[in-house]
Amino acid sequence: MAAGRWVLRWALAAAAAVAATLALDNGLARTPPMGWLHWERFLCRTDCATDPHSCVSERLFAEMADVMAAEGWREAGYEYVCIDDCWMAPRRDESGRLQADPKRFPSGIRRLADYVHSKGLKLGIYSDVGNKTCAGFPGSYDHYELDAQTFASWGVDLLKFDGCNSGSLELLAEGRGGPERALRWEYSAESSSSRPRVGSRELLFPRAYSFKGFAYKSRNFFDVYDSWRSIKSILDWTALHQDSIVKIAGPGGWNDPDMLVIGNFGLSWDQSVTQMAMWAIMAAPLFMSNDLRHLRPEAKWLLQNKEVIAINQDPLGKQGYQITKDKNFELWERPLSGRAYAVAVLNNQEIGGPQNFTFSLTFLGNGLACNPACSIRQVLPASRDWGVYSWVSSLSVEVNPTGTVLLKVAVL
Ligand SMILES: *[C@@H]1O[C@H](CO)[C@@H](O)[C@H](O)[C@H]1NC(C)=O
Ligand SMILES: *[C@@H]1O[C@H](CO)[C@@H](O)[C@H](O)[C@H]1NC(C)=O
Repeated sequence: MAAGRWVLRWALAAAAAVAATLALDNGLARTPPMGWLHWERFLCRTDCATDPHSCVSERLFAEMADVMAAEGWREAGYEYVCIDDCWMAPRRDESGRLQADPKRFPSGIRRLADYVHSKGLKLGIYSDVGNKTCAGFPGSYDHYELDAQTFASWGVDLLKFDGCNSGSLELLAEGRGGPERALRWEYSAESSSSRPRVGSRELLFPRAYSFKGFAYKSRNFFDVYDSWRSIKSILDWTALHQDSIVKIAGPGGWNDPDMLVIGNFGLSWDQSVTQMAMWAIMAAPLFMSNDLRHLRPEAKWLLQNKEVIAINQDPLGKQGYQITKDKNFELWERPLSGRAYAVAVLNNQEIGGPQNFTFSLTFLGNGLACNPACSIRQVLPASRDWGVYSWVSSLSVEVNPTGTVLLKVAVL
């Protein structure tokens, strides 16, 4: 049982005010989970009469599952179709169970889960540790056991357990609080499920906690927005806290900088490349929040890029970190299996044209990444072999403003 470790991780992550994704180290989430989540793009749109195409409804999730199965997303690794806040009816039913909004989910979650499973995908659902969800729907406080049973009986595969309205951090973190009990439901959900135990259920905490009086700067900071400013603030925050958060990431528990917003409205091409590259460096869960039914081809190319996804999913399971930063550039690396490294060069300059960043290869991997020699392949913004370099070489990387060049360095 990984309970102790899990709770400890949760507490550490919370103490560091990190938006963390935590899952049980039960053989699941060996690599960062991947999928689609409705929140950033579709928020809490509940008026299906005026907005049938994008209200939070069974139709939205079924259509997303259709596209994920038909257009290569499942094969690329995106396996979860995740419901976020606002799926519920405003009240529990007469036996105290959560119920889906009957107008927007007329077939019910059980049927939706069956449908999603028939497409070879998994269904994620959302609840909250406190008395109410962030959007004011019924929370799980005082109903942990029942809600776990309910989700299990519906065949749900993943739970995002939000932290709005949950009282003090101490209440939750110290021993008998919500998450630890939630952990136990996870096990009971497992055993009371009629689905075969194929190792599917996970507890994830993909969003920041909204603990009152706790030392994070603002909600805006933690929830990703469809903007470069938001992406940058997440990267800056991660770099600032890397000494405490990088070491706790690994199979079973991944730090979560929040959703991929590539394919929406706010990021340029170079900024989209930066998000994809840096989410791979950070070993971040890859949950897209966009409209897969209407996606520009270049966004699809980027989100389905096999080489970047392979870096994100690298089996060594180590999160990357920033090595150095000057006023224009950031240099990051992530150790990969086979003694390889992923290396990202990010250009922070928001003016002018492409600029070169030149650095010695001895900077990488504590001097070991290219010792005595290495081959370098560029993965983003386009794939290209750069050839063989020796330990004493320096590298000049040309990067567009707000863009990133992602490289893979393999020692020879
Ligand atoms: C939820 O509401 C009950 C009743 O008002 C209260 O006792 C409890 O502390 C609340 N839970 C949280 C996590 O705030
Ligand atoms: C960056 O360096 C390369 C190789 O030295 C050179 O060809 C290129 O023109 C440089 N780019 C800029 C913007 O200075």
